[in-house]
Amino acid sequence: MMLLYSALLGTALFLQSGQCQFQPISIPSLPKNSNPVSNDLQAFSIEFAFFPDYAGNKSHPNTFSKTLLDNFKQITGVLPKVRVGGTSQDHSDYFPNQKENVKLIYEKPTDDQPIQINYGPGYFESYHTLGDIQFLHGLNMNQNKSVQQLESAATKACTSIGPQLHLFELGNEWNFAPGKYRPANYSLLDYSCEWNRKAAVVKAAVQKACPGPFPGFMAPSFVLLDLALSKTTWTAEGLFHLGYDEKNLTKELSFHNYMGVNAPPLPPAGFDLQKTLMNHTNMAKNLAPQIQRARNLQYLGHPFTLGELNSIANQGRNGETNVFGDALWLVDFSFWAAEHNIKRLHFHQGLNYRYASWQPITSKGVPPTTRPPYYGQIMVATALGHAKDSRIVNIPLSEDTESAYAIYNGKRLSKLAVLNLRAFNQTTTKTRPDRKYLFQLPKHSQDAKIERLTAPGSDALQNVTFGGVSYGYGLKQGKPVVVDSKEEKADIKNGVLSIDIPDSSAALVTFL
Ligand SMILES: *[C@@H]1O[C@H](CO)[C@@H](O)[C@H](O)[C@H]1NC(C)=O
Ligand SMILES: *[C@@H]1O[C@H](CO)[C@@H](O)[C@H](O)[C@H]1NC(C)=O
Ligand SMILES: *[C@@H]1O[C@H](CO)[C@@H](O)[C@H](O)[C@H]1NC(C)=O
Ligand SMILES: *[C@@H]1O[C@H](CO)[C@@H](O)[C@H](O)[C@H]1NC(C)=O
Ligand SMILES: *[C@@H]1O[C@H](CO)[C@@H](O)[C@H](O)[C@H]1NC(C)=O
Ligand SMILES: *[C@@H]1O[C@H](CO)[C@@H](O)[C@H](O)[C@H]1NC(C)=O
Ligand SMILES: *[C@@H]1O[C@H](CO)[C@@H](O)[C@H](O)[C@H]1NC(C)=O
Repeated sequence: MMLLYSALLGTALFLQSGQCQFQPISIPSLPKNSNPVSNDLQAFSIEFAFFPDYAGNKSHPNTFSKTLLDNFKQITGVLPKVRVGGTSQDHSDYFPNQKENVKLIYEKPTDDQPIQINYGPGYFESYHTLGDIQFLHGLNMNQNKSVQQLESAATKACTSIGPQLHLFELGNEWNFAPGKYRPANYSLLDYSCEWNRKAAVVKAAVQKACPGPFPGFMAPSFVLLDLALSKTTWTAEGLFHLGYDEKNLTKELSFHNYMGVNAPPLPPAGFDLQKTLMNHTNMAKNLAPQIQRARNLQYLGHPFTLGELNSIANQGRNGETNVFGDALWLVDFSFWAAEHNIKRLHFHQGLNYRYASWQPITSKGVPPTTRPPYYGQIMVATALGHAKDSRIVNIPLSEDTESAYAIYNGKRLSKLAVLNLRAFNQTTTKTRPDRKYLFQLPKHSQDAKIERLTAPGSDALQNVTFGGVSYGYGLKQGKPVVVDSKEEKADIKNGVLSIDIPDSSAALVTFL
């Protein structure tokens, strides 16, 4: 003990305050009301227009996407759930006689998303290329031309997707419908009535074509509620008091979440990365209203999910959301959300999106690529593993740029995740600083291994690994490849774990 402290004192003199704790940090016991975290916490949302690009079709399945999804099953025992939807869902029309699987009509060729999506029966081949995934399928609530359109789209979905259809979704982000899809005076009550009416149409059509229990909906898929509140009176709590979903067809509550919006004026991307994403305080502040909303709506008896989320809205931002720092944000965000009873996190994907976890096909000159956020998802999945009783508790630390979580199985501390969120540019010539932590462990935790989430810097686009493993396309098309086989044992002496975390990296400690 004496030796350890005196050795530390020597280095501590050169460290800034807050970097080194002389007293080992104690690990909080589990809060009484904490619930086990689902193994499929990490989930995906794929933009409706780009689902065929991600999944391929029967003759040309996208095996890269399938591999990246299968990796989760290896780690957690379950495949991630996939929601197919987004803004393009409310611009999509089903044409039973269309030969092409999908026709995308762009207003400007450089736009992130098409303005109109016409899909035919061939579109549904994409639901049968990724293995045994459970899907949440988006229906267009915007189109008002005919009830038959909605009926035939819903019927085709249930007959084609079959037992892999987990839930439907009717409309995307309708809290922004006034002035966008409907007249400016379209009210929350108007929305409630229109959704109830159309949900009943969907249910009747599906029950006719696909006998058996109706799958139900994820709803209401509102976004940026707290940013928009100053301008509207649309709240989720108010919605359910207006008779929304009077027939209780909803099975899961879904809200969308972003840390900010990619719209000017914005500070430089590298600066915003530190301030907005690599910032535990800011992440917790961003999620607080969702956590409160989950409590307010608990009486409904539905699981609370983020049915679409990612870092910065409007498809992300180069230099901020496509770099390694975003992966560190994703890890911190996921653990915090899971601790606060958010059941699933559907990270949103689209072709060439600047926050995507992978690029599924060559597009705009960019070949298939596994991108940094994917590695964050792998770290979170690894922390949960196959265990059915993982519970997470945050370990409070003093700085915005650090974060730690204890993961318990039952009452046993099984893992510890530690993140150093200080930005480190790979281009700088100075040596990479690190932070040293001491954690006071329970008696049984004497032996542990360390897996690190690392990259050359917070601004890195490639060379990311977790536990020395790369999932790069160039190696084995997304299959795990060990690129650094050196195993790291944790330094535990007299019940105290000592660990160094370089700036812009994270570590997962697993007690053996
Ligand atoms: C399947 O995908 C390939 C490659 O994108 C495409 O050429 C083909 O037309 C698609 N087939 C159908 C039936 O959509
Ligand atoms: C669609 O229907 C809703 C509810 O009946 C109505 O409020 C809205 O104005 C209609 N929109 C269009 C474009 O017809
Ligand atoms: C809403 O605005 C439309 C015109 O866009 C008008 O015809 C309608 O009467 C208005 N409804 C209400 C309830 O004010
Ligand atoms: C990293 O580099 C970017 C631009 O390349 C810059 O905006 C940012 O301030 C740098 N961050 C640090 C921590 O040096
Ligand atoms: C982190 O976010 C909080 C809350 O938004 C803010 O007050 C703080 O300045 C941020 N810290 C850094 C290092 O940018
Ligand atoms: C609605 O259904 C959910 C299950 O999906 C159930 O937990 C809840 O109690 C039901 N609510 C009512 C009012 O029946
Ligand atoms: C990244 O990996 C590539 C090989 O995939 C290698 O050529 C390059 O030097 C690496 N870059 C860094 C910064 O480590």
